Amino acid sequence: MPATIVIGAQWGDEGKGKITDHLSETADVVVRYQGGNNAGHTIVVGDETFALTLIPSGVLYPTVTPVIGNGCVVDPAVLIAEMDALRARGIDPDRVRLSGNAHLIMPYHRKLDAVMERYLGRQQIGTTKRGIGPAYMDKFSRHGIRAQDLFDPKIFVEKLETALKDKNKVLTKVYNQLPLDPGPIADEYLGYAERLRQHVTDTSLLIWEAVNRGDNVLFEGAQGTLLDIDHGTYPFVTSSNPTAGGACTGAGIGPKSIDRVIGVTKAYISRVGSGPFPTELDDEIGDNMIEIGGEYGTVTGRRRRCGWLDAVALRYSVRVNGLTEIALTKLDVLSHFETLRVAVAYDSDDGRHTDFPRQQRVLYHCRPVFEDLPGWSEDISEVRTFEELPAAARGYIEYVEELAGVPVRTVSVGASRRATLERG
Ligand code: GDP
Ligand code: IMO
Ligand code: MG
Repeated sequence: MPATIVIGAQWGDEGKGKITDHLSETADVVVRYQGGNNAGHTIVVGDETFALTLIPSGVLYPTVTPVIGNGCVVDPAVLIAEMDALRARGIDPDRVRLSGNAHLIMPYHRKLDAVMERYLGRQQIGTTKRGIGPAYMDKFSRHGIRAQDLFDPKIFVEKLETALKDKNKVLTKVYNQLPLDPGPIADEYLGYAERLRQHVTDTSLLIWEAVNRGDNVLFEGAQGTLLDIDHGTYPFVTSSNPTAGGACTGAGIGPKSIDRVIGVTKAYISRVGSGPFPTELDDEIGDNMIEIGGEYGTVTGRRRRCGWLDAVALRYSVRVNGLTEIALTKLDVLSHFETLRVAVAYDSDDGRHTDFPRQQRVLYHCRPVFEDLPGWSEDISEVRTFEELPAAARGYIEYVEELAGVPVRTVSVGASRRATLERG
């Protein structure tokens, strides 16, 4: 390590949870730096499956300090429920640390997320309706309520009442909803304070001290590069910065501390929610990918849209994140396809694009230019070294490396912890 960022190179659900868990064996601190419980990170250990939404995937190792950084938005009821669920399964959540600067998701954020989507009609983003966007809106308009405010009831109630004055006008006059009463919200949230007190700390300082001790620190991204508010397929994005720079602002560390940036990419690609998707497969092949890959959302259960690997998007992800390497996941899912395709460019009315188009319009109307590669029929889910993979699978990995311009250091051939190949 010592300081490594793990990020999604696509539209999320690349297997970040699995790769973070794999690296956590030798980590001391694992940090979530953006997003909230819109994320769903699945980890399979033996017969057990863990689906984490807020707590970093490193929590499964007792030696790891899991940190929720200042850049996250936190629904306290969800955090407490997730900690309780871990405890019930024999995992100690007392180690979890939460930044006092992280913003709280409030009931009106969830409500607004739902009604704003409904009012968008056909133009809806397809959010997870967890209140993520409205919570970040309040953060940036400086009307947010932070974790540290829970410990000052007077300030908390003042901030809540001020926020609700405005929110209730919007809810009733714009969205035709009933107003919310601050009393029960204050009771509920202040009730969480005692539970959370022992977890809240200066996490930027904690991380700084860990880095200076030479500890291994891992930053676990949520969502993915193409869902980034600045660099993604706006407006069909999330409201934070999953890209590598987000790890610095969302954790409170400087860029000089980072040595390694791992981009997690599926061997194909998927997307949940609306928005352009050049290599989307709207046919039997796509249906097979969804079924074989188990492509149903961890958080909302929605069917994920699937398509061939998009090297234009992958190269873009290498660039905007400064990826030093790739972790290629779900290679086993491709075992069932005779011919594999990879998009190497997009054709559009204004010519051929080998770089990710700056104009959103192009993404909607472009036609991907594919290179075809031979598939393999062997089941590779029990393979544990690169050398044992069928020649066609090795060829596919090498082709991905060539297109991306960075090495594929990790290959995943199954959901379980063991199904992970490391290359020298
Ligand atoms: P994340 O949000 O990036 O952590 O990814 P998700 O957990 O939402 O989705 C990835 C899904 O694929 C999960 O169900 C994982 O258990 C599963 N998975 C991860 N890696 C592999 C792999 O190499 N092969 C297979 N078949 N499944 C995998
Ligand atoms: P992980 O971390 C895939 C998508 C939603 C929607 C858009 C905005 O598991 O990879 P939001 O609720 O964030 O305002 O929704 O972003 N989205 C994800 N898609 N994986 C995720 O997280 C996602 N988190 C949000 O489907 O299109
Ligand atoms: Mg997910």
